[in-house]
Amino acid sequence: MSTIRVHDKEFVAYITSAEIAEQVARIAIEINRNYKGKNPVFIAILNGAFIFAADLFKQINVEAEISFIKLASYKGVKSTGKVITAIGLDVDLHGRDVIILEDIVDTGKTLFQFLPQLEHTNPASLKIASLLFKPESMIHLIKIDYLGFTIPNKFVVGYGLDYDGLGRNLKEIYQLI
Ligand code: IMP
Repeated sequence: MSTIRVHDKEFVAYITSAEIAEQVARIAIEINRNYKGKNPVFIAILNGAFIFAADLFKQINVEAEISFIKLASYKGVKSTGKVITAIGLDVDLHGRDVIILEDIVDTGKTLFQFLPQLEHTNPASLKIASLLFKPESMIHLIKIDYLGFTIPNKFVVGYGLDYDGLGRNLKEIYQLI
């Protein structure tokens, strides 16, 4: 078993690049089929989704646009928790078919807070594509329309996902030992 060290932690090889490529290709086929004749706009959430977004977008064969956003959280004035806002959203989503690209849905908190803001812009449709999903840690119910892998509640790195800034450049996905 191939293991690696990132910062102070040991990770073991978990999902190969071939398996990732297979799922990304399958998702692309589904999206191409469902959006035939449409002009979807992909919104990739940085940083984690950048590699997934690039690999997927290359395989999209309908007329499509892509934009990248960062989500910043700050303490709201009234709200008890943190408020999440998007930085860099430069496309008017009104009347558009929007597909959010995420690296992983873990607790679901990020999308739970962010999706209502997107719905406010009145898109024609709003779907979510996530490479990974950890159902065991889900707190907020998020419907993932296009999913690569369901994984157990263990920390993973690679293929865009990081551990404290490192590991994003790994071609495969590694799991914390
Ligand atoms: P959520 O709001 O709990 O669903 O968290 C989503 C974000 O947490 C993801 O977009 C990732 O940036 C980060 N995250 C959650 N689990 C992992 C993991 O196992 N490895 C790396 N990042 C993770």
